[in-house]
Amino acid sequence: MAGSSDTDPSTNASANTASLGLGASNIDTEIGKIIVDMGLATRTEIEFCREQQKQSSDPNQRSLAELLIENSFITTNQAKRIRAATEDRGKNSQLPGYQLLGRLGKGAMATVYKARQMSLDRVVAIKVLPRKLSENPEFVDRFYREGKAAARLSHNNIVQAIDVGCAPDGYHFFVMEYIEGKTLYDIMQEGHTFSEAEALDIGIQMADALAHAHKRQLIHRDVKPKNIILTPGGVAKLTDLGLARATDDKLAAEMEVGKAYGTPYYISPEQIRGELDIDFRADIYSLGATIYHLVTGRPPFEGETPAAVMHKHLKQALTPADHVNTALTAGIGEVIDVAMAKKREERYQSTEDMLEDLRALRAGNPPVHARKNVDLDALEKVEESAQAVEMPPIIIEESEPQERPAPIHYHGGSISRDEPAIIMREPKVVAMLAVLAVSLLVNIVLIYVLLTLDN
Ligand SMILES: Nc1ncnc2c1ncn2[C@@H]1O[C@H](COP(=O)(O)OP(=O)(O)OP(=O)(O)O)[C@@H](O)[C@H]1O
Ligand SMILES: [Mg+2]
Repeated sequence: MAGSSDTDPSTNASANTASLGLGASNIDTEIGKIIVDMGLATRTEIEFCREQQKQSSDPNQRSLAELLIENSFITTNQAKRIRAATEDRGKNSQLPGYQLLGRLGKGAMATVYKARQMSLDRVVAIKVLPRKLSENPEFVDRFYREGKAAARLSHNNIVQAIDVGCAPDGYHFFVMEYIEGKTLYDIMQEGHTFSEAEALDIGIQMADALAHAHKRQLIHRDVKPKNIILTPGGVAKLTDLGLARATDDKLAAEMEVGKAYGTPYYISPEQIRGELDIDFRADIYSLGATIYHLVTGRPPFEGETPAAVMHKHLKQALTPADHVNTALTAGIGEVIDVAMAKKREERYQSTEDMLEDLRALRAGNPPVHARKNVDLDALEKVEESAQAVEMPPIIIEESEPQERPAPIHYHGGSISRDEPAIIMREPKVVAMLAVLAVSLLVNIVLIYVLLTLDN
């Protein structure tokens, strides 16, 4: 029966397997060993099914697992667990120096196992890359380079990289410190929305971790809730730092199709555009997006498909976090806005600046650097609007009468040389001059007449 109790506990796995004497396919022999090891079925039950296999004339005869289910010796769920254990055992023999203890999780790119490092007798986490990545020499080269660089980092908020290696059958793997805890993604999946204080605390730890890595020219490129593990003691640990990305960032984001909280929710616009010179400001954007999600309970941009989400990262204005969750301070909204500016020149220009602002917020003060950026933005906007209201130049046709009042030109307090000419064109002035000239003429004529009369 399933999980039956008549397994002989005194016999170890190899003894059991040796005595099975089934002479069947390697896979079924391995499965038989595992089933007995796991205490899910007895030796007799397995022998019974193997006998059925032998008797069968069906060329597509059923597997041992199928027969065990058919005979109600194991359940379908137990068969699934056996399959996973078989895969893990396969890996175990492929990672020399490590004993696999179980599977921790599976991401888009690889599977992470909990394992014992035999030499130092300590528990570690091992990320094993799938074969298709291991066959890409360019990727493998980058994987080793970044892995080595990451192993030189030492920071309380960064999961310590321990080793990179290659198993004899070609699987590449990354060994790291094992962290007891849950990812921020898992915590949110359980329905928890982080308070501003909690998010600031995590944000500060992450900005500190990133500042440490950035100073040493390491960029994460995939900061997101799934890559941050929170320990029961409240320490946030950044994972996957130094793990080369499989392909270009846009493609990696697209690989997340259908996965909630996937990479497209936190990716920077320049990574979407496939720019080659990705720098630390991509991590600043993703950290801003991560904090946004923590405090609002939703990613900054949502959409039906990864492409739609990415389009919004490129084009759509961000709804400030403090508008989505009105319980938040304006300060945290400003910090996220600056971190998530679409143009990287408008983001924090150093990770330390963002860290300082997050610390200021935690201390109850306004953010310094974000305010500066906002002020500069405001200034730019004022300048832009000033330019926008500037009158277009008025072109006056030579033949048309000039409607604008004649300008008055002053140069250093004295009237310029074209002044008389302008005054002379004034009709009133012309009339006065005419009157003057006429009266002068009249006077001259009068004097002449008087003189002639005297003579
Ligand atoms: N150092 C670690 N210690 C303990 N658990 C870990 C460690 N690193 C990863 N994990 C667990 O393994 C899971 C899978 O990690 P992995 O990095 O492969 O995938 P992911 O981060 O979910 O997605 P992606 O493939 O996009 O990185 C994580 O969600 C986490 O639960
Ligand atoms: Mg990860």
